[in-house]
Amino acid sequence: MSKPPVLLTRRIPSAAFARLDAACDVDLHDGASPLPPDELKRRLKGKKALICLLTDKIDGAVVDAGLPDLQIVSNVAVGYDNVDVPAVKSRGVVFTNTPDVLTEATAELTWALILSLARRVTEGDRLIRRGEWRGWALDFMLGMELRGKQLGIIGRGRIGRAVAAKAPAFGMTAVFAKHDMSLDELIVRSDVVSIHTPATPETRHMFDRRTLARMKRSALLVNTARGSIVDEEALVWALNEHLIAGAALDVFEKEPSVHPGLLPLENVVLVPHLGSATRETRTAMADLAVRNVIAVLSGNPPLTPV
Ligand code: DGY
Repeated sequence: MSKPPVLLTRRIPSAAFARLDAACDVDLHDGASPLPPDELKRRLKGKKALICLLTDKIDGAVVDAGLPDLQIVSNVAVGYDNVDVPAVKSRGVVFTNTPDVLTEATAELTWALILSLARRVTEGDRLIRRGEWRGWALDFMLGMELRGKQLGIIGRGRIGRAVAAKAPAFGMTAVFAKHDMSLDELIVRSDVVSIHTPATPETRHMFDRRTLARMKRSALLVNTARGSIVDEEALVWALNEHLIAGAALDVFEKEPSVHPGLLPLENVVLVPHLGSATRETRTAMADLAVRNVIAVLSGNPPLTPV
């Protein structure tokens, strides 16, 4: 019996690829950058499944190009702001994402960013590499101690809760917006504010000039969710005006571009969307995306439908 044809928009870890290849006839885009939209549509024709990444924009026109054969769009990410989900589902196509498997990795990166920012790790690293370290001094590069501070978490989903669970290890008190206190109270009172909410029209630019200006001047902002939640222009303004003490960003409004105003600032930690980037987690994400496809193409319910 012939295997069902599937379009895979980027190479995935070998264990997951082997599982997919055994069950499906895989058309792999093995390039370093995303498939251009026209090529994506052309190659989707006749395919029963699409496995895509958060760098692929999937809208109604893309789905139409795969109809009537396309049965499932499987996104290798928990976030799906790259996909017009109503457009997919209204065409009778299943849509799945990869929750759970990346929770711990993203929570770990969040803590790496909090610690780097509070203890000026990347700033100190840059200083040493520039050959500017003149030796130990009592008042040199002082950071903020986490013990006794409040960690305000926006978003009480899996990742937000996993970040909160690690707070006692650092002596911090974690509070959730809308659960423990209002969003405004959390913003005004927290020493570290960490964002773990999905990108939606409602959360777009949640951190604008007004919100940033309400934070403590000593506060740190961390975003490992989605870039659109923080207005980067406003963040540059708030940092330059010393309205907050620092920011750590894993996600950006126009990835892979970063607002140029952030680059010269020493009190900013920038990492290139690495939240889920551990070998274990990326393998698990790809494997879950593949298992969703195999389930649906075998006539079974998807494991993690949206
Ligand atoms: C996701 O899955 O949404 C993450 O941002 C990927 O790192």
